[in-house]
Amino acid sequence: MSNGQTVLITGAGRGIGMAIAEKLAEQGYHLILNYRKDQGKSAANLQRFVSAETRVKVTLAKADIAEPRDISEMVKKLRQQGIERIDHLVLNAAAAPFKPFIEMTRNDWKLLLNTNLIGNTTCVQEIVPLMTNGGTICVISSLGSQRVLPKYPLGIAKSALENLVRYLEVELYQRNIRVNAICAGVVNTDMAPFLRDQWPELFQRYENSPRRWVLEAEEVANIAAFLLSDQSSAIRGSTLVADLGMTLEP
Ligand SMILES: NC(=O)c1ccc[n+]([C@@H]2O[C@H](COP(=O)([O-])OP(=O)(O)OC[C@H]3O[C@@H](n4cnc5c(N)ncnc54)[C@H](OP(=O)(O)O)[C@@H]3O)[C@@H](O)[C@H]2O)c1
Repeated sequence: MSNGQTVLITGAGRGIGMAIAEKLAEQGYHLILNYRKDQGKSAANLQRFVSAETRVKVTLAKADIAEPRDISEMVKKLRQQGIERIDHLVLNAAAAPFKPFIEMTRNDWKLLLNTNLIGNTTCVQEIVPLMTNGGTICVISSLGSQRVLPKYPLGIAKSALENLVRYLEVELYQRNIRVNAICAGVVNTDMAPFLRDQWPELFQRYENSPRRWVLEAEEVANIAAFLLSDQSSAIRGSTLVADLGMTLEP
C-alpha cells in the first residue's frame, strides 16, 4: 500500500492514465493528474474524478508535455500549492502521427519527438528533484517498440523510451529511484477503434484467434501499481511485457 505517497501521472484524463489514477486512489496514493486542455473529454473526466474522490488528495496539473516551459510552469505551480514532494512518476501521455515513415513531415517529427522523447525527459528532469529515496518512475510503452506495426512511428519513440528506462535506472540509482516500463499490447481505450481502422488485417488475424488479445486498461493499471510498490523492489531498469501472449503465436 501507499503510506500516503504522492504520484504524478501524465495524460491522466482518459484511458490507461485514468485507469492508473483510479487504481492508485483505491490504494491510498495522493494524485497529481496532468492534462493538457481545459475543454474536452479528459477535462470533463477529471472534473468528475475530482468531485467524486473522497479517499485521497487529488491535484490537477495542466501542462502540454510537448512544451518544456509548460512542464516547468506546472512544477512551479505545484510548489506554490505546497507540493514539495512527489514519490512516483507515471509517464503515460503519448501523441504521434499515424503514417508511414516515408511520409513523415518535419512537423510530424516535431510532434513525435517533442511529446514522447523531449517531453518525457523534461518531465523527469523537472520532477526528479522533488522525488524521494525509494521513489519510482514507470513508463507506458507499447509493442511497437519491438514489432514493426504499420504506420506507427510511435514505435521508434517507444523503443527509445524503453532504452531510456535502462539509462535512467543507472543514473538515478544513487537516489534510489527505480525506473521501469510496461510494454502493453492493444488496450481497450479510445485508441482501440482508431487502431482497428489503421490495422484492419492485424485486427482480423487476432479476432479470428481463440486467444483473448485486447487488454483492459485496468490490467495495465494493476501492473503500474505493482511497479510503484515495494513488491517489485527487485525489478529495476526493466520493461514488463503485458500482451496477453499475443506475440507468441505467428
Ligand atoms: N491503447 C492502446 O492500445 C495502447 C497500447 C499500448 C500502449 N499504450 C500507451 O498507453 C498510453 C496511454 O494510451 P491510451 O490509449 O490510454 O490513450 P491515448 O488516447 O493515447 O491518450 C493519451 C493521453 O495522453 C494525453 N496527451 C497526449 N499528448 C499530450 C501532451 N502533449 N501533453 C499532455 N498530455 C498529453 C492525452 O490527452 P488528451 O485527452 O488531451 O488528448 C491522453 O490523456 C500511451 O503512452 C500509449 O502509447 C496504449
